[in-house]
Amino acid sequence: MNKRIDRYAVIGNPIAHSKSPQIHHAFAKQTGEQLEYIRLLGEPGRFAEDIADFLATGGRGLNVTVPFKEDAWQLVDELSPRAESAQAVNTIIQLDNGRLRGDNTDGIGLVRDLQQNQGATLTGARILLLGAGGAARGVLRPLLESHPEQITIANRTASKAVALASDLAVLGSVEGCGLSDLAGKRFNLIINATAAGLTDRVPEIPDDLLEDQGWCYDMMYGDKPTAFARWGLAHGAAKVIDGLGMLIEQAAESFYLWRGVRPDTAPVMKQQRG
Ligand code: ATR
Repeated sequence: MNKRIDRYAVIGNPIAHSKSPQIHHAFAKQTGEQLEYIRLLGEPGRFAEDIADFLATGGRGLNVTVPFKEDAWQLVDELSPRAESAQAVNTIIQLDNGRLRGDNTDGIGLVRDLQQNQGATLTGARILLLGAGGAARGVLRPLLESHPEQITIANRTASKAVALASDLAVLGSVEGCGLSDLAGKRFNLIINATAAGLTDRVPEIPDDLLEDQGWCYDMMYGDKPTAFARWGLAHGAAKVIDGLGMLIEQAAESFYLWRGVRPDTAPVMKQQRG
C-alpha cells in the first residue's frame, strides 16, 4: 500500500509571499526527507476548522504566522515552555497519539542567528528590545536564557513594556520602560521587534543609544535595507542585521521538531540571500 507523503503547511493571512515553502523544501532535499510543504491562507475566525481540514488531508504539522499565533496557542492540546512564555505558537506538531503540541521557535531562531551565524556574544550583553507586542514576547525567553547582563524592553506604550518585563522577570534581569526613558542609556545590541517598519518608520528613540561596536538587529527583512537597518547605519552600528537569518533558523528548528533531523542552514541562507 502506498504511504501518503507527510504534509506540512504555513498558515497565515496574507500568506502569498511566505518564503517558508522554499526553505522547508530546501531542508527536505538536503536531508533526504520525503515531505510536502504548502501555503495555507487562513480565514480569521475559522482557525480551528482550517487546521482540522489540513490535518484530515495528511497534515502532520504547521507553521503559524501573523495573525494566528495566539489562536494556535489557544488551540493546541499541550505547550512547550517557550511557547507558554511567548503566549504564541509558531509551530504545531501532531504527536503520534493525535494530540497537538504547540511550540515557538522564533526566539531560538533569533538567538541562533545572532550567536552562530553572526558571531554575537549575548552573555553579559546589554540588550535593548524595542516593542512589547507578540513579536517581542515571542523572543524574550530564549534571549534571557542566553544570559545577557540586562534586557531593557522599551515601547511606545510604556505600560505594555513594564507588564511584559514583569511577566518574564523570573527568568533574568529585565526591565520595561517607555521610549523617552531611554535617554542617557547605552546598549551593545538593539533588537527591533516593533511594527514601525511596516510603514518604513523607526520608533522615536534617542540618537546615541549604541555603545561603541554596538549592533542593530531588525526582526523584519525586505529586499531593501529596512528603516531600522538604515537607522543603525546612520547611528554608528558596527553591524546591522535583518530578520532573514532568524526566519531560516526558526524554520530549521521547526523542521527538527517535526522530522528529528537538523538541517544545515548555511547553504539555504546563501541561496535566500541570492
Ligand atoms: P506584533 O505581534 O508584530 O508584535 P503588535 O502586537 O501589534 O504586533 O505590536 C506591535 C508593536 O510595534 C507594539 O510594541 C507597538 O507599540 P504600541 O504597543 O505602543 O502600539 C509597536 N509599534 C507599531 N508602530 C510603531 C511606531 N510607529 N513607533 C513605535 N512603535 C510602534
